[in-house]
Amino acid sequence: RPRVLSGIQPTADSFHLGNYLGALRNWVAMQETHDAFYCVVDLHAITAGHDPALLRKRTRVSAAQLLAVGLDPERCTLFVQSHVPEHAQLGWVMGCITGFGEASRMTQFKDKSQRQGADRSSVGLFTYPILQAADILLYQADAVPVGEDQRQHLELTRDLAQRFNTMFGQTFTVPAPHIIRDTAKITDLQEPTAKMSKSASTANGLIELLEDPAKAAKKIKSAVTDTGREIVFDQEHKPGVANLLTIYAALTGRTIEELVDAYEGKGYGDLKKDLAEVVKEFLRPIQERTNAYLDDPAQLDKLLAIGAEKARAVAGPTLKAVYDHIGFLAPG
Ligand code: TYM
Repeated sequence: RPRVLSGIQPTADSFHLGNYLGALRNWVAMQETHDAFYCVVDLHAITAGHDPALLRKRTRVSAAQLLAVGLDPERCTLFVQSHVPEHAQLGWVMGCITGFGEASRMTQFKDKSQRQGADRSSVGLFTYPILQAADILLYQADAVPVGEDQRQHLELTRDLAQRFNTMFGQTFTVPAPHIIRDTAKITDLQEPTAKMSKSASTANGLIELLEDPAKAAKKIKSAVTDTGREIVFDQEHKPGVANLLTIYAALTGRTIEELVDAYEGKGYGDLKKDLAEVVKEFLRPIQERTNAYLDDPAQLDKLLAIGAEKARAVAGPTLKAVYDHIGFLAPG
């Protein structure tokens, strides 16, 4: 079976619909076809200031949500990044073959450091994509299911893997991004040309998996649509309606064409009303299951400990090969 690895940050109280449709849905699907490793990337969550108690809570809530949307610990390896020390260890090594200029060109770093002010940005924010490369390469992943915003980080990962292999001998699988075009960029409900994002979207622009379903339904009903009345799929001229159709299709398994046909002669209000119901019904069971997992934190922690052990069984040998190829003296 080909190998897959992906990660998600525990930086909010809830994941959002963009995370789910752009990435998590594919994580669930790939458990069936791949040897799958998924991690809650807590090391990545401390680059811009955080509250320790909140981070601990969010790490558990994140794991619970991943199980609730359908990850099955019998079918995949689910773990917390900091439980596997090899991530930080390989991160250092990869940092030593990354160019300063190369890292400076990462657009997410440029955006975030600009928002925070360059002097206040941490070095961790700068080296973030290098740690991400280490996450992926440790598992010899063939594929990495992510949304469009991660494409540049995956290109860096591929470059670093190839560079290391050339410099020190074949060590890493060069991974390919697995980005499903239709749902790779779910947009903000209030600003349909910007991506739905926990840091940049306003509360009304974002649907959280754990928010009150009635509130989520209201957000769909008040989503910004476009001028005109006809329901057609046109991302350039009607990004608001296109986003709603994308969400609708992804959540119901219907195609966009089917939906466009079904809404012929109807208005934006009809579309939003129906999608609001779909979203409500989608959120409810996820929330029930998340709460059930959170009701038993000891059991959840045990699942994560088992995941970490399975992860280390793969990450350990990769790091050992890296240390050997790079010329570190093996401990006697
Ligand atoms: P993060 O935590 O920001 O987001 C998790 C996943 O959700 C996707 N995503 C979206 N997809 C479609 N539309 C959106 N509006 C949207 N918003 C977010 C992201 O593309 C991502 O797949 N750097 C990563 C975390 C990471 C990682 C890794 C990923 C760390 N190590 C190794 C893959 C492999 C991040 O910040 O994702």
